[in-house]
Amino acid sequence: MDAATTLVIFGSTGDLTSRLLLPALGQLLTVAPERRIRVIGVGTADWTAEQQQKVVRDSFAAADAEAALECVEVEYRRADITVAAELKKLLKDLDGQVALYFAVPPAVAAAACEAMTPEMLPDGVMLALEKPFGTDEESAAALNRRLTALVDEKQVFRVDHFLGKSTTLNLLGARFANRLLEPLWSAESIESVSIVYDEKLGLEGRAGYYDGAGALVDMLQSHLLQVLAVVAMEQPATIGEADLREATSAVLRATRVWGDDPTSSSRRARYTAGSIDGVDKPSYVDEPGVEPERRTETLAAATFEVRNARWTGVPFTLRSGKAIGDPAREVVVRFKAVRHVPDGLRGSADGAVVRFSLGPDRMSLDLNLNGAGDPLVLERATLSADLGPGQLMAYAEVLSCILDADAMLSVRGDAAERCWAIVQPILDAWANDEVPLDEYVAGSRGPEHWPFLG
Ligand code: BG6
Repeated sequence: MDAATTLVIFGSTGDLTSRLLLPALGQLLTVAPERRIRVIGVGTADWTAEQQQKVVRDSFAAADAEAALECVEVEYRRADITVAAELKKLLKDLDGQVALYFAVPPAVAAAACEAMTPEMLPDGVMLALEKPFGTDEESAAALNRRLTALVDEKQVFRVDHFLGKSTTLNLLGARFANRLLEPLWSAESIESVSIVYDEKLGLEGRAGYYDGAGALVDMLQSHLLQVLAVVAMEQPATIGEADLREATSAVLRATRVWGDDPTSSSRRARYTAGSIDGVDKPSYVDEPGVEPERRTETLAAATFEVRNARWTGVPFTLRSGKAIGDPAREVVVRFKAVRHVPDGLRGSADGAVVRFSLGPDRMSLDLNLNGAGDPLVLERATLSADLGPGQLMAYAEVLSCILDADAMLSVRGDAAERCWAIVQPILDAWANDEVPLDEYVAGSRGPEHWPFLG
């Protein structure tokens, strides 16, 4: 049986803990029942251990709750983690493998990091921080300086659950274990790449955060740039922390807004009243907590270029929107057409298209093949494979790495800063109103005049 790992959850009475973190822990313990986890919930509310235990039990309900509950001990401690003396007392008797998970708003996480000193922290502690990591390149750099003054970079876990999604991880195998794909994976053969993550979901009561962030920061700046980095990276020597993170960081260092022109390479829109699956949806500006004059976008699209020998000239378009009907969630790699089709073959000669669906996990390949009827007439055929759900949900995959003190699925500090620098020209152009704020009806696929990317 494994020695217990201590998971200290700052913000354990909050929504993120019960909605994502604890269900992920429950699932992880179901597939790895040999783990022993001491959960120490921390918050400012006057909770008892029993209240915290109930939240754990309820959150485990979707997993094999009884078996998972056998693996955990749950306590609750009341503390204000932005106060040094309280932190010191809280952390003083912790030993063994310890992870501190900041399930708190970014400002509280930053203040807690300010209040911490290296002496307070148990040896080898992992610090796990949720996105958004800073609000721009400078604030991300300041937070990085603070964190690496406390612990080694490898002990800092900047959570991006898209790195734990099974499709993102499947991209590694598809790319690097198939001679059919790997030699063609470059501007020589690929025409364009799009990474789309549209959602039916609207605000879900998150206006306090979302109205200040918008789709560009909420999704493109973080998750979708990480997926881009996995799609475009050079082959790492190993699928391990050092090699994988260096390969993805190198891609991000080479990534720029297409043509260095954010005005023509980005688009934004927000939804108006509509209906999704027969349920009426109010206009974004009428959602509780939204300040219309902020002009926050709920749909963002932007095209980037990876300026290196492999990719120069290939547009990578990223798009994500809320309240979209029939939403697409996929990485689409479009190959160039062949240079010449012999006379006598008729029909489709379009380039092949490879799609990786970001849930449900599926991969498909569109090719030109002779269909039924005239054997010299080419038709489009789709070969597809259902990959099934990954063993673990994305958050559980990420949490498993944190508990193992393995930073492989963590965003490295320089990459977190770089992602802000990549989108800054777009943020500036939008702030200066150089790109119109379009509208789309909730439940539609976006503004009618936008090309659909999928
Ligand atoms: C979160 C965003 O990080 O990712 C949400 O803040 C978004 O706005 C979510 O809905 C999408 O991820 P998933 O895995 O829940 O579909």
